[in-house]
Amino acid sequence: MGRHDTYQKLIYFCLSILLLHNVLKNVEGLACNWGTMASHPLPPNIVVKLLRDNGFNKVKLFEADSGALRALGKSGIQVMVGIPNDLLATMASTVTAAELWVQQNVSQYISKYGTDIRYVAVGNEPFLKTYKDRFVHLTFPALQNVQAALVKAGLGRQVKVTVPLNADVYESGDGLPSSGDFRSDIKTLMISIVRFLADSVSPVTFNIYPFLSLNADPNFPREYAFFPGSGGGGGGTKPVVDGSISYTNVFDANFDTLVSALEKNGFDPNKVEIIVGEVGWPTDGDPNANPAMAQRFNQGLLNRILQGQGTPRRKTAPEVYIFSLVDEDIKSIDPGKFERHWGILSYDGAVKYPLSLGNGRQLVPAKGVRYQAREWCVLSPRAGGNVATWASSADYACQQADCTSLGPGSSCAALDSVANASYAFNMYFQRMDHRSGSCNFNGLGTTTKIDPSRGSCRFPIQIDTSRHETLRPRGNSGATEVKWRTVGAVAVAVAVGCAVFN
Ligand SMILES: *[C@@H]1O[C@H](CO)[C@@H](O)[C@H](O)[C@H]1NC(C)=O
Ligand SMILES: *[C@@H]1O[C@H](CO)[C@@H](O)[C@H](O)[C@H]1NC(C)=O
Repeated sequence: MGRHDTYQKLIYFCLSILLLHNVLKNVEGLACNWGTMASHPLPPNIVVKLLRDNGFNKVKLFEADSGALRALGKSGIQVMVGIPNDLLATMASTVTAAELWVQQNVSQYISKYGTDIRYVAVGNEPFLKTYKDRFVHLTFPALQNVQAALVKAGLGRQVKVTVPLNADVYESGDGLPSSGDFRSDIKTLMISIVRFLADSVSPVTFNIYPFLSLNADPNFPREYAFFPGSGGGGGGTKPVVDGSISYTNVFDANFDTLVSALEKNGFDPNKVEIIVGEVGWPTDGDPNANPAMAQRFNQGLLNRILQGQGTPRRKTAPEVYIFSLVDEDIKSIDPGKFERHWGILSYDGAVKYPLSLGNGRQLVPAKGVRYQAREWCVLSPRAGGNVATWASSADYACQQADCTSLGPGSSCAALDSVANASYAFNMYFQRMDHRSGSCNFNGLGTTTKIDPSRGSCRFPIQIDTSRHETLRPRGNSGATEVKWRTVGAVAVAVAVGCAVFN
């Protein structure tokens, strides 16, 4: 066998390993968002264990949270780390500012902790209509500077940039996916950004929310928000016919509107890597948000992900980050009270509803969570029966703590006015970590060891954040180990290749 032949075969062999790797990449794990806008966030090491226990091998962070990035070190989980919108102006100003961010928030974690950072998300839905034009002129220069900074740091191949965008950056005049195009006010900008990302072999990222489609329009056909064959009776909705394609669900239609927008502007949608950065369904805070609907949507979504299913216009499945892992009780409720209830797990990592994650695996809860004592705060019988007596105290409690479950159509909406006040008092008491005086309310509050939960309404006990083991910082040795593991794997692959072809 000639030398030339051997090399050629070795190259084919390596190519096939790469191909196999890419095929496996699509089915080997799940991805989700990990938001930390919580008054009592779960300790990062518990979350990382939770991710691993449930087979998540990709996670998206909204900012460079130091605890999360350290805990993710050497976890086998790939990370997308976000740059918040309020840093876009700085990132857009100079490459030096972007270099500093990359040094502090990317390079450091890769080299010191072995954190497998794969993507930097520049901004979060910066072109959302509600932001007006605030970030429109900042996002692209910020993206270019961060990309330049990554290249300068020697991370150009390893870490890719992207911009998570809301699905309102594209639209369709007649509502059919085939008429999809980018929103007219930012069309040129979108084309520049997609071209830039495609040229740097980086993905485009879009957040798609069937829940919001259903919520925004009282005439929206309910079944169309869910995936077909995902239970709930179904069959009631006429499909949306678009030429030869019949759309049975809004996710496919929305995604294909994007696919058309890409095609219309000269991109090959099969060559552009597409990530769905957020998609999910909340469980509370709205009449359309409950565990049954969330389970139906998310199980349908997971089944598609596990099957690697694409859409009618793009057979290649996108990478999908589920929104979200756990609830966040201090998120802004401007978009709606449901904002604090997107988790597939509760604030404490408890399972809200069963989900099968493939290979016979069921969603499991977080382990090792420590709670405050089993004690609740309720309205004292001394308060009497007149709402006016406690109304201002309950209002105060709800201004400080999360009362979104009391809203119309929510899990605690059916409580009578006494239990309603108790709920508010308890949320405040938990938020204050049972601190002395935090169940006083001018003598209207009293503590109890009997769980006041009733029906769908849970009176929670907060996490005791002070009683968790703090994360031990891990030193430099980790990075070396990771490097050697990679070198080792390549060496083995080449050795096997040589053995096969000699
Ligand atoms: C690193 O990220 C954090 C969190 O987003 C931010 O507060 C900090 O300013 C960043 N560092 C630099 C140098 O920009
Ligand atoms: C329950 O409490 C909330 C928040 O304090 C309040 O807005 C609502 O009117 C109350 N409902 C009843 C039935 O008391």
